Amino acid sequence: MVSIEVCVGSSCHLKGAHDVIEAFNSEIKHHGLGKEVFLTGAFCLGKCLNGVTISIDGELFLGVTPETVPEIFQNRVLDVLGV
Ligand code: FES
Repeated sequence: MVSIEVCVGSSCHLKGAHDVIEAFNSEIKHHGLGKEVFLTGAFCLGKCLNGVTISIDGELFLGVTPETVPEIFQNRVLDVLGV
């Protein structure tokens, strides 16, 4: 199980957190990992100036965009799960 939290605090919300969530959702569905990946929203993760901020199993990623989601998903989800 990999846990992905996407900050939906006001700053990250304005910077496109919803689109980042959609991008992760689409990766999860595409790879059929609905039971292995837990995707949820989070309150402010304290890095507002560098949002959109996400946390994967406690590791923070800053400035995430829908365009950078596939690479992060590959490195921190697919490779970790051995998919
Ligand atoms: S609002 Fe996202 S890190 Fe603060």
